[in-house]
Amino acid sequence: MCGIVGYVGHRVALDVVLGGLRRLEYRGYDSAGVALPSDGSLLIERRAGALANLEARLDEVGRDGFTGTSGIGHTRWATHGPPTDRNAHPHRSSDGKVAVVHNGIIENFLELRAELEARGIWAESDTDTETAAHLVALAHAGELAGAEDAAGDLTAAVRAVARRLEGAFTLVVTHADDPDRIVAARRNSPLVLGLGEGETFLASDVAAFIEFTRSAVELGQDQIVTITRDGYTVTDFAGEPVAATPFQVTWDLAAAEKGGHDYFMLKEIEEQPGAIANTLRGHLVDGRIVLDEQRLSDQDLRDVDKVFVVACGTAYHSGLLAKYAIEHWTRLPVEIELASEFRYRDPVLDRSTLVVAISQSGETADTLEALRHAKDQKARVLAICNTNGAQIPRESDAVIYTHAGPEIGVAATKTFTAQIAANYLVGLALAQARGTKYPDEVVREFEQLESIPEAVAEVLESLGEARALGQELAPSKAVLFLGRHVGYPVALEGALKLKELAYMHAEAFAAGELKHGPIALIEDGLPVVVVMPSPKGRAVLHSKLLSNIQEIKARGARTVVIAETGDETVRPFADHLFEIPAVPTLLQPLVATIPLQVIAAEIARARGYDVDKPRNLAKSVTVE
Ligand code: M6R
Repeated sequence: MCGIVGYVGHRVALDVVLGGLRRLEYRGYDSAGVALPSDGSLLIERRAGALANLEARLDEVGRDGFTGTSGIGHTRWATHGPPTDRNAHPHRSSDGKVAVVHNGIIENFLELRAELEARGIWAESDTDTETAAHLVALAHAGELAGAEDAAGDLTAAVRAVARRLEGAFTLVVTHADDPDRIVAARRNSPLVLGLGEGETFLASDVAAFIEFTRSAVELGQDQIVTITRDGYTVTDFAGEPVAATPFQVTWDLAAAEKGGHDYFMLKEIEEQPGAIANTLRGHLVDGRIVLDEQRLSDQDLRDVDKVFVVACGTAYHSGLLAKYAIEHWTRLPVEIELASEFRYRDPVLDRSTLVVAISQSGETADTLEALRHAKDQKARVLAICNTNGAQIPRESDAVIYTHAGPEIGVAATKTFTAQIAANYLVGLALAQARGTKYPDEVVREFEQLESIPEAVAEVLESLGEARALGQELAPSKAVLFLGRHVGYPVALEGALKLKELAYMHAEAFAAGELKHGPIALIEDGLPVVVVMPSPKGRAVLHSKLLSNIQEIKARGARTVVIAETGDETVRPFADHLFEIPAVPTLLQPLVATIPLQVIAAEIARARGYDVDKPRNLAKSVTVE
């Protein structure tokens, strides 16, 4: 949800900033822009649409003048105002001296805009961001009431303005007269610092500067950071110095590139065996499950009497599977809730409730607010996250990181399967602490999980037919998905992938619900994807679903069946059959999801869509 970059160093800033934006485009691609100080003024270029449009514009005007070694850039996911050139960031103050890029929403911007208009300063754009540019310029000029001492001091000016803003904002600010310094303010939207030799970076995500350095620094809530080529200083909004936490990024540039694939998503689908294995690695130590960060005692885990899982989108689908595993292994009641609904319905929480917040990015506003609500009610929070040091793990009592590496494709793939593995670790950790499983049983379950990457690799090798089927299904108007038990969340995830990538109507049902209404949708030739349970695992589920397939087949559905290798009973009713290796019931989603991801990606490609950047979406949703 908007990508921002800032750079001060010794290289041509335009190249560094554009390179950073290229790696952040997954966060938004409604417009892009850059601002660079140059000889006492600002060079600003911005264009609606993808970054390529900005680059074309820069080629048109010529890049020769852009020799400065500091600058800021932005790639936008529009909130206030349509995605036009006029609304593209950076936004400039009326005196032309200050440029600002912003990620988030300034909730009190109308009030601030009215205040500016009363002083004769009129907005050029429809955005909330522009108000911040004008206010910083006023503060820097010593003309902002209550902030007169900020005159001539960009850090003090940004700090004074940050105190006036409400909502979620990360602002990165440059001043024409102060080219060796960039100042940022952070509240509720991500910002990370990169430290190189004689150069310093700011970005929404380390991917923006991974080409130059793996030394990074986490920034916290309500902090102001000033960077120069020699380093950085951090204070809170009151101006008090604060210590920031340095860390080393564990992956490198190659992980953030396509590696010979046409799309990041296709690469990320193939990376799933490694993502699952890395997520499990190091979590069984001397026969015991350990978490990555645990600020809870074992007694706290023993005291848990109820679990809530909160998440959005794909993470929510993985959370549905957490419910099956945790209830089965611990006998604790588990409720799963969309994070966006959680805090608005007064859920029953107390200090013996454990809330599991699942988020790839660790910055999803809905999930973050659900977590905060849970903490306000004294519940304990355990985060499952793919982003080191993001806000959600920072505010949680315990963390399991999905070590899936960077996921650039907007559609979640490898982080989904890694989240399932992490959810199961939570279940095992609880079972261990509460004694609902013997230690050797916990180890056995863990070892079964450890064998999954091999099964996923096997599925990935047999997907030629799924690709061909994707091409065949591309003209369809709609696709339905059916599953039962753990196959139901897989069906939901398959439908979500198809909606977001191929813009095709897709709906998933628990197969037992079919006869309660949805069966009326079945007509001749309608593709229906069915996730079959193992015939050996829960035989009763298998036989029920077999009946459901016959019911839809009898009404003309074109059936696409995902079934365990050797399940001959289903073959007569499958127009297309994808075989997956036999694995324990709870683990089947980890293998059954893979063909659905591939089919969705192929349908989207056959329809001519960019699978990495689906329309209207952004990878991280930092607004509610
Ligand atoms: O970063 P998060 O896991 O919190 O994101 C949650 C959803 O926004 C995300 O899973 C979204 O549904 C994906 N686009 C799905 O592919």
